[in-house]
Amino acid sequence: MLLPEKFLTCVRCEDGLKREEGQTPVPGEGIPNAEVMLIGESPGTEEMKNARPFVGKAGENLNGFLESVGLNRNNMYVVNTTRCRPYKVTEKILKNGNKRITKSNKPPSQHAIRSCATWLDMEIDLVNPTLIVTLGSTPLKRLIPEYSISKVHGTLLTVPIQHAGVKEESREFTLSEREFYIFPLYHPAAIIYRHELQEVFEEDLKRLRQAIEKLQLNSVLM
Ligand code: URA
Repeated sequence: MLLPEKFLTCVRCEDGLKREEGQTPVPGEGIPNAEVMLIGESPGTEEMKNARPFVGKAGENLNGFLESVGLNRNNMYVVNTTRCRPYKVTEKILKNGNKRITKSNKPPSQHAIRSCATWLDMEIDLVNPTLIVTLGSTPLKRLIPEYSISKVHGTLLTVPIQHAGVKEESREFTLSEREFYIFPLYHPAAIIYRHELQEVFEEDLKRLRQAIEKLQLNSVLM
């Protein structure tokens, strides 16, 4: 793990406070000086159980999509915008009078995104990737709030990114001094419930492969 040990006990936001007994926030995983960093949204149930990003169904999809264009996840650094599962609890009274409690995923709150920003920024600083691939709207908005996924998906951007600084108490975002190559993709899970995005996503993946070739990030090519 690249992050300091205190990351594992973080309870800066409501999702951290609601973590199940024995679970920790999910750190990023991969090559410490990877040329390519993938940033997702938040861990789900499987990720929390395993303390690893993208190991559940969304992870299987992601691996398959990357392989389909000859990209190797194992040589990247994979991380999420927030590090504990955001969920809501719903209570239903069954016909027999019993209660059924279900936990369902929800998008992370702005407070959770802000609270986790210093962890993500620490990993971006340490890994110092040449290219950041954002998966879905949450990481894109976190790094470049003025951009919208529907307008910039599948394009290679060269921009400074918002940076919270590594100090826990630093509340203000500032712009990074260096520019990053950012390649926004839709979130692989979005393809499951928005079938119309399937073709768009496949086309974007091909463009990602071309961008990686152009930038000569050969370590992630299969
Ligand atoms: N699992 C993750 O680790 N991140 C996501 O964004 C979705 C599922």
